[in-house]
Amino acid sequence: MKIAVFSTKAYDQEYFERYNKDHYLEFTFFETALNSHTANIASGYEVVCVFVNDKVDARTIGILAGSGIRLIALRCAGFNNVDIEAAKRHDIKVVRVPAYSPEAVAEHAAALILTLNRKTHKAYNRVREANFSLNKLIGFNIHGKTVGVIGTGKIGATFCKIMKGFGCKIIAFDKYRSDEVKDLGVEYKTLNDVFKEADIISLHCPLTPETKHMINEKSLASMKNGIMIINTSRGALIDTADIIKGLSDRKVGYLGIDVYEQEENLFFKDLSESIIEDDLILRLISFPNVLITSHQAYFTREAMEEITLTTLKNITDFKKGAILKNEVV
Ligand code: NAI
Repeated sequence: MKIAVFSTKAYDQEYFERYNKDHYLEFTFFETALNSHTANIASGYEVVCVFVNDKVDARTIGILAGSGIRLIALRCAGFNNVDIEAAKRHDIKVVRVPAYSPEAVAEHAAALILTLNRKTHKAYNRVREANFSLNKLIGFNIHGKTVGVIGTGKIGATFCKIMKGFGCKIIAFDKYRSDEVKDLGVEYKTLNDVFKEADIISLHCPLTPETKHMINEKSLASMKNGIMIINTSRGALIDTADIIKGLSDRKVGYLGIDVYEQEENLFFKDLSESIIEDDLILRLISFPNVLITSHQAYFTREAMEEITLTTLKNITDFKKGAILKNEVV
C-alpha cells in the first residue's frame, strides 16, 4: 500500500522507518504541507498521512478523491484541519491517533507555567553572561493558587493531577463532567466562574465552532488582573488581537502558548533568516511576559513512538479491511 506522508520532518521519517519493518508499507516522505496547491502530489497513492497544519479542506479532499486517495491518516489527535463531511462525501476514511501521550502535553503546560513564573529562561541567559542579579526575576508561589482547567479530557485530567501535586486548588469547566476528575478533588464550575476565579487558566478543550476565540475581549474582562493564560490546545481558542490588547492593558500578566492561530505559516520551520510578515506574532514575541513554543508539547520520545505505532496500525487495519478503531466519524 502506497502512502504519501506530508509535512515530514527528519524525526518523522526516522520513526516511521524504524517501526515499519513489521508492516511492509510503502512510504514516500514529502516535506511540503498538504493543501489544495500540493494535493496533486498524492496522485498514484492510496493513503495520505498528515499532521496538524496540513490543510485538508473540501477543496483538497476533492483533489485527493480524484487522485484515488481512500484514507487520510492523521498523525495527531485533533482533526479540526480536516473537513470530515467532505471526506465522507468522497468515501474517504479518516483515522487519527486519539491518545499518544497526555502526559507529554500536560507536562509541557506545567513547564510553560514554571518558566513564565520563575523566569528560568531569562536566568539562564543572564548567568551565561555573568549577570548574577535577581532584579525583575521575582515570581510567585504556585502552591495555593487557583488553577482553572477548561476541558478535562485525557490531557486536562493529567494536567489536573500535576497541578494538584503543586498544592493548587483546581476548578474546571467541561461540557461533560468526569467522575474520575471529580475524585481528584477538582471542582466543576460554569465557564464564567472559572474565568472569574482562576489565577492561572489552562486550555485543554478541542477547537470547535463553539470554542473558537473563547478567550476574547469579553472573557478577558471577567478575569482577575494579572491572569496567567496557558494554551497547549489549538491556537484559535484565543483571539490573538484581543489577547494582545489584554497584554498591552496589563490585564494579562503572563501568556504561555504552544499553539498559535496562524501557526501553519510559521511553526516547524526555521525562519531565522526570513522576514516574518505576521505582525501579530512579532507583537506577541515582543512582550517580556509571553512565552511561545512552536507546537512542541507532544514532542517526547514516548509520544513519537505511540504516534508512529498507532498510525502504522491504523493504515494496516485499513489495508486488511479490518474495523478502524480510530476512525473519525
Ligand atoms: P480529549 O478529547 O480527551 O478531551 C477534550 C475535552 O474537552 C473533553 O473532555 C471534552 O468534553 C471537552 N470539551 C469539548 N468541547 C468543550 C467545550 N465547548 N468546552 C469545554 N470543554 C469541552 O482530548 P485531549 O487528548 O485531552 O486533547 C485536548 C486537545 O489538546 C486536543 O483537542 C488538541 O487540540 C490538543 N493537543 C495539543 C497537542 C500539542 O502538541 N500542543 C498534542 C495533542 C493534543
